[in-house]
Amino acid sequence: MDAMATPAMPDFAAWSRGVQSRMETALARVLPDAAIAPETLHAAMRYATLGGGKRIRPMLAFAAGEAVGADPARVEYAACAVELIHVYSLTHDDLPCMDDDDLRRGKPTCHVQFDEATALLVGDALQSLAFEVLADPAACSDAATQVAMLAHLALASGSRGMAGGQAADLAATGKSLELTELEFMHIHKTGALIQAAVLLGAMAGGALSASGRACLERYAHCVGLAFQVMDDVLDTETDTATLGKTAGKDAAQGKATYLTQMSAKEARTYARELIDDALAAITMFGAAGQRLADIARFIIDRRY
Ligand code: IPE
Ligand code: IPE
Ligand code: MG
Ligand code: MG
Ligand code: MG
Repeated sequence: MDAMATPAMPDFAAWSRGVQSRMETALARVLPDAAIAPETLHAAMRYATLGGGKRIRPMLAFAAGEAVGADPARVEYAACAVELIHVYSLTHDDLPCMDDDDLRRGKPTCHVQFDEATALLVGDALQSLAFEVLADPAACSDAATQVAMLAHLALASGSRGMAGGQAADLAATGKSLELTELEFMHIHKTGALIQAAVLLGAMAGGALSASGRACLERYAHCVGLAFQVMDDVLDTETDTATLGKTAGKDAAQGKATYLTQMSAKEARTYARELIDDALAAITMFGAAGQRLADIARFIIDRRY
């Protein structure tokens, strides 16, 4: 192909900064203005959502959209919806009744900056907003697929997805889990929303072929599990300033993590094997799957 006619793809760092800035604008637009009553709740929703985070789930949605040729303007709705559910999950995860954390994304957690009741409502309201955004007629060209996207996000967020994984995490605190139980917990508390980001990003372009869906599901399963394995590793290896959240919390709180079952070196090796599987799963997309591959590699190379 003529190199003059095909501008080089921006490198991953530039591309990911582009997604982050696009998301900042999109999320600032969909979140109610802080001047609208109830002002404190709206200010707290904006505080929790804007100005931080890696935006990995939106990156996955845009990358999956790119793999199947979906219009990025439609993918943006799915990216916002999944990120809003993610921020809700973080806000609740940090509450005193869960992980009791006071630092998130380099600033005081929502309940520290506001109060616990407000943080609870921030989570509730972000969850509702996510579905409102995904129900926008512009989120998908095909209404039947859009209903399937809404159903998938509901499943991924609820007791058979993220919330169920969080329940498993709380039940496991202070206990030693078998590897299969750890995998169940990680696949649910973190993997489910990561898989939703990938599938919804692709579905924004219309119904998926059975083979395309199976490949994306396999990719997302591996990437989602590897992401949480690395989150466990980084909790022990990275400092609080780099992480933007309190380092060493898992051991201090007796959390069941991969590092209670294996060394950090073994956990990194396991994450790397998962990423190799993820890369093998997306070969059918060829060059269009380049961003999905970049994100998979970033997940094991990241320091925060
Ligand atoms: C942290 O997620 C919580 C997990 C599910 C592991 P991220 O590491 O994606 O957090 P942000 O969005 O970048 O803050
Ligand atoms: C959080 O897992 C998963 C969800 C928020 C659903 P962690 O409790 O390990 O996340 P961090 O380490 O606080 O970000
Ligand atoms: Mg937790
Ligand atoms: Mg936590
Ligand atoms: Mg963690």
